[in-house]
Amino acid sequence: MSTRIVPPTAANIRAAAEVIRRGGLVAFPTETVYGLGADALSADAAAKIYAAKGRPQDNPLIVHISCIADAERYAHVTPLADALMRHFWPGPLTVVLPARDIVPSATRAGLSTVALRLPMSAPALELIRASGRPLAGPSANRSGRPSPTTAQTVVDDIGDAVDVVIDGGDTFVGVESTVVDVSGDRAIVLRHGGITLEMLRSVVPADECASDEQKRRSPGTRHRHYAPSVPVVLWSGGELPVQGAWTYVGMSGPPEGASREIRFDDEADYARGLFSALRELESHGGTIVAELPSGEGIGRALLDRLRRAAGVE
Ligand code: TXA
Ligand code: MG
Repeated sequence: MSTRIVPPTAANIRAAAEVIRRGGLVAFPTETVYGLGADALSADAAAKIYAAKGRPQDNPLIVHISCIADAERYAHVTPLADALMRHFWPGPLTVVLPARDIVPSATRAGLSTVALRLPMSAPALELIRASGRPLAGPSANRSGRPSPTTAQTVVDDIGDAVDVVIDGGDTFVGVESTVVDVSGDRAIVLRHGGITLEMLRSVVPADECASDEQKRRSPGTRHRHYAPSVPVVLWSGGELPVQGAWTYVGMSGPPEGASREIRFDDEADYARGLFSALRELESHGGTIVAELPSGEGIGRALLDRLRRAAGVE
């Protein structure tokens, strides 16, 4: 059966919700990347997600909800989490909190915590409401590959495993949500993403995840990610770090000689287009030379994804 890509009409959302209620998989657009949705309250559905993505079993899933009040149904909400949810939801922020028992262990990979997110995209919210379930939703790519920012990329990666893909067009943030541990009284960023550290700090005390112990709290950060099928090397001006054929992605002009180049106006634009750029450039072969961003604002998320695409810590 070929995967259906459908527009987010009311009838298509209703049909997709039925797929979710029957325990199936539906890929859906969010403001960050496409998600691979399944009933977050079903251990069987979670198992299907791990199989479809080839995802390591120790990497927990984000639970997507459609209203702030639902957070209390699935987690013990702290005052810190409440402040962040009210400020940034709907939007690209995921909060990690002590879980309630209703969330199956399979969804949270055996952890005592659960990650909650209220996305900004209308089709995502409509799908959650129509299915009457919270949606477990990792990025809808094969594990380790760049995340999908278009419906077609989902089909290219995991088309066989998903029943239907709701097409919401290109996603507009482009990197995934920021994951923060909010179980204490300071927010700890476990994964940089669409909500920057500066934005978090304008609302609550927030730190970058520093220690190895803290890193262990976000299992996803342990695995290699975002890797195209060709080598990626990072470049910050000056001498080129490659020999042989190469392509370029970045903001400023590269030195002469790229066989293909993709250039962005600023870091937000670079973040929005990075994953599809990596996929396009890998099809040209050679090495991908990627310009390093500043490491501030959205540049932090960009830097993290680029480092992991290049396989450097
Ligand atoms: O923007 C996003 O967050 C997208 C869209 C689809 O919502 N989803 C996404 O999911 O990026 P995924 O599975 O690709 O990444 C989830 C990240 C992983 O790094 C995982 O380890 C972390 O969130 N995570 C999930 N549950 C956690 C928990 N209980 N404690 C710590 N980290 C958790
Ligand atoms: Mg992912």
